[in-house]
Amino acid sequence: MEKLTVSVKEHQYNVYVGSKTYELFASEYADLINSTDKIGIIADSHVAELHLPLLKNALARTGREISVKIVPGGESCKSSDVYVDCQSFLLTEGFTRNSLLIAFGGGACGDLTGFVAATFMRGIRFIQCPTTVLAHDSAVGGKTAINMPEGKNMVGAFHQPAAVLFDTDVFKTLPASEMRSGMAELIKHAFISDAVWTEQLLVEEQFSTPSIEWLESELMQGIHVKAQIVGEDEFEHSTRKFLNFGHTFGHAVEAASGYGKLSHGECVMIGMGYAFLLSEKHGDISADFTNQYLQFAKQNGYTFEPVFSYSFDELLSYMQKDKKASFGKMNFVMLKEIGQPFVKEITTEQCREVFEEFKQKLESGGIV
Ligand SMILES: NC(=O)c1ccc[n+]([C@@H]2O[C@H](COP(=O)([O-])OP(=O)(O)OC[C@H]3O[C@@H](n4cnc5c(N)ncnc54)[C@H](O)[C@@H]3O)[C@@H](O)[C@H]2O)c1
Ligand SMILES: [Zn+2]
Repeated sequence: MEKLTVSVKEHQYNVYVGSKTYELFASEYADLINSTDKIGIIADSHVAELHLPLLKNALARTGREISVKIVPGGESCKSSDVYVDCQSFLLTEGFTRNSLLIAFGGGACGDLTGFVAATFMRGIRFIQCPTTVLAHDSAVGGKTAINMPEGKNMVGAFHQPAAVLFDTDVFKTLPASEMRSGMAELIKHAFISDAVWTEQLLVEEQFSTPSIEWLESELMQGIHVKAQIVGEDEFEHSTRKFLNFGHTFGHAVEAASGYGKLSHGECVMIGMGYAFLLSEKHGDISADFTNQYLQFAKQNGYTFEPVFSYSFDELLSYMQKDKKASFGKMNFVMLKEIGQPFVKEITTEQCREVFEEFKQKLESGGIV
């Protein structure tokens, strides 16, 4: 089991990654558990079916009674209806300001539970028990949100967890597309922070089918990058924006294709290809590097087909709605070199040109 401490201004908490991390409820977190009057798990329905006994058995060792609220699996739990349902559940069960919530699922369940915890009685403590590889990104850093019909993550709050316990045994049941999704965010962390780590990942044979042992140390490295950035800029005024590398174009593809068709990380992988092309023009990324990246992505089962499914104007309308866009201008995260991100405003015309170049490159490189 590996450990890392996240330090933000008024808060510090530990992240554990490994096997049997839930046993910490009865040891390291016994005092926290004992200081609460009620404990509730909010669990993703798929995850609950597969793994709830693992978590419940570990919590049983604390001797406390636990309430469980099952929410729809995946992204559909991030709705205002499910949010209100969770709040009613807590009120009916007699939860108070001194109660504790545990999120048990992927990033979606974590975002929902975090937002429920942030707002119930003006804020109660919560612990993240993430079950996807992608959640090494989402469970750390305190961003919580639900979706609105008008857009994703449009209502939310910053609310840091009291702890993050990653039990890597649950990864065994992750579908291949979810594994790819999480690994895309992992290599994003490498791109924005470390050229040597990036080179290692780009030639890693087990990238899309990782062994748990290898994954543990890689996830720790990814969480380290995220924790450092969040520690510097908790509320996304500056460097936290770098975590959005690949996301402006990626989110547009995700929204255009209808959420859930392609996983989030698979769309980010597409978005990073676009961001590398921008980085050739505005930074010092070489065309060779972009080609190496695209080949790597293809070999690992990522698709770039959606780039051909939508017109530039369709994608543009989503890019302009991006939360990172301000006063109607589009800001992209690019790389000067690997490990050196920066943010720059790009005009619509420049975006359009790069979109056409992206399609040509994908075709001429045999990527699609
Ligand atoms: N808060 C943040 O900083 C942040 C950062 C990145 C992403 N996010 C959010 O995270 C969400 C995406 O998270 P995600 O990729 O984990 O997706 P997810 O939570 O939707 O889970 C993906 C699918 O995998 C299933 N699943 C989860 N764990 C499993 C397991 N161990 N075995 C089998 N199936 C399992 C889920 O039921 C779901 O169907 C998005 O809503 C995104 O907005 C938040
Ligand atoms: Zn992301």
